[in-house]
Order: sequence, then C-alpha cells, then structure tokens
Amino acid sequence: MNSQFKPRILISSAEIEACITRLAADIMRDYTGRNLLLISILKGAFVFTADLIRRLDLPLEVHFVLLSSYGGRMESAGKIRLVQPLQCPIRGRHVLVIEDIVDTGFTLSFLMEYLAREQPASLKLCALADKPFRRVVPVTIDYLGFTVPDKFIVGYGIDWDEKFRNLPDICAMEDEG
Ligand code: IMP
Ligand code: MG
Repeated sequence: MNSQFKPRILISSAEIEACITRLAADIMRDYTGRNLLLISILKGAFVFTADLIRRLDLPLEVHFVLLSSYGGRMESAGKIRLVQPLQCPIRGRHVLVIEDIVDTGFTLSFLMEYLAREQPASLKLCALADKPFRRVVPVTIDYLGFTVPDKFIVGYGIDWDEKFRNLPDICAMEDEG
C-alpha cells in the first residue's frame, strides 16, 4: 500500500457513539449482578475499550493483552502468541474480550482457546468490526459493532503501520491515484 491511499470516512464518530450505546446496553443486560473482567487486545482496541467502559455501569476490571503474529503487517499469518503471560487470574471469572477487528479469525480463535483453558465462568467476545468475507477460522462474536467491507480499515484506534489511530471516525484506505 503506497501513499496514494488516503483514509475516507466509512463510519462516522456519531455512528460509533450510537453503536457503543447499543453494545453497552446489551452487555449490561447480560451481565447484571456479575463482576466483569474485560480483556482488551492491544493496541487496536484501546480507544474502543476506553469509550465502552465509560458506558458500562457494572463492577468491572480491565486488563490488556498484547499478541504478536509471525507474518505480514496486514494480516495475521496464523501463528499467534501472547507477548507477556496474562497478569490476572481467569478461573471462575466472567471474561469479555474486546477486539477491534475480526478478520481471518486466527487471532481471536487463538486467544479464546487460550482463555478457555484457564476455566473462566463465562467467556464472550465483543468486537467493534467484523470482516466476515475474510474468515478462515470460525469465531463467534457475541457483541458486534459493525460489519465492514473487505477494505483496509483505520482510525478510532486502528492503525496502518502505526498511523491513523487518532482519527475520530472509522475510515477505509481508498486508492486516490
Ligand atoms: P485476524 O487474526 O486476521 O482476524 O486479524 C485480526 C487483527 O488483524 C486485528 O486485530 C487487526 O489488528 C488486524 N487487522 C485486520 N484487518 C485490519 C484492517 O482493516 N485494518 C487494520 N488492522 C486490521
Ligand atoms: Mg489487533
């Protein structure tokens, strides 16, 4: 991808805000009376996580995991690992994973299987965006923000080569050449 690609707004910050209100209502309905353990995937989910937790009127903890994949920058190659071991006990907890985009599914299927082995009381996934046409490995998304087209997405925490995370909207990189 070279410099003729420019970010074009796909989902506006107002649409994102409305979506977060909906997701937070769904999550609060399902987790009433429970303590929630949120596990947010760095770095892409940090903005989404920050906005979502401020809409959740529930007792909760937030932890972060950094995953690495061997392969290209644009997609995971199927070999994922945790950069650091988890810093929090999972066993018996109600765990909700927060991710930016589910693409091939390699990242999430790895993490959900990893966490399931730690025997949480429950384990669910909340993703801001889904690219279902790109899926290689099946992943169940319990709370989904948006289905997006098969384009490279940036903004609202999501990067292209570490850039564009600061854009307030979700944008697609479009060829302006
Ligand atoms: P998966 O393992 O292929 O599902 O990859 C998911 C990860 O790839 C996400 O957490 C993102 O970090 C990255 N990713 C997938 N699609 C995009 C995109 O369009 N823009 C930026 N990052 C992406
Ligand atoms: Mg990611």
